[in-house]
Amino acid sequence: MGDLLDTLKSELERFGAANDAATSERSRRMLNITRDTGQFLAVLVRATAARRVLEIGTSNGYSTLWLAEAARSIGGAVTTVEAADYKVGLASATFTRSGLSPFITLVHDDAGRFLRRSDHGAYDLVFLDSERPEYPGWWPHLRRLLRPGGVLVVDNATSHSEEMAPLVALVTADPGFATCVVPVGNGELLAVKDALDPPSRKGAQ
Ligand SMILES: C[S@@+](CC[C@H](N)C(=O)[O-])C[C@H]1O[C@@H](n2cnc3c(N)ncnc32)[C@H](O)[C@@H]1O
Repeated sequence: MGDLLDTLKSELERFGAANDAATSERSRRMLNITRDTGQFLAVLVRATAARRVLEIGTSNGYSTLWLAEAARSIGGAVTTVEAADYKVGLASATFTRSGLSPFITLVHDDAGRFLRRSDHGAYDLVFLDSERPEYPGWWPHLRRLLRPGGVLVVDNATSHSEEMAPLVALVTADPGFATCVVPVGNGELLAVKDALDPPSRKGAQ
């Protein structure tokens, strides 16, 4: 199983690099995370025992493989949301080949609509890798659906810092979250939701 997954990840890395070099049309590009970002996400899922993982922006499923492999190892699963028909088709084939399908729910929908209908505290870890101009509008939903102690990870914090600035401003100004940027891959914004609400925190001192 490990060998099969390693082979598939390497194949997707080669495909993504060749495909994205050959087309400038954004909707046809895979825009996959880097391998070290995948390794980082896999460690984070295990370290935080994040059994309920949400990914926004599946593309052809490369990052999902890292998340789902880690989630499976701790008895968890991943829900991943993708709007584009073409990418959903590719991701679906990736997941079938990976053997990780039982641990992945692929949602073919607009992420904004999905986030609006998600339950309070439904996820332990959210990986956000989609259309950056949408992020500020999604923030109220993201902060609501993370459980106390839950972690938000957002890709491209350093590669696209200007586009990320509105979300970074919102998250860092939120007293209920602690944040940092990890210089792995394209830069990962990490935000952890306080485990205790403010009155409990005061009472605990
Ligand atoms: C950067 S790519 C994701 C790459 C993927 N996480 C990986 O590393 O393999 C962003 C994806 O978000 C999808 N997307 C863009 N806007 C969306 C929306 N409103 N709802 C759902 N998916 C969306 C795009 O179709 C694209 O596949």
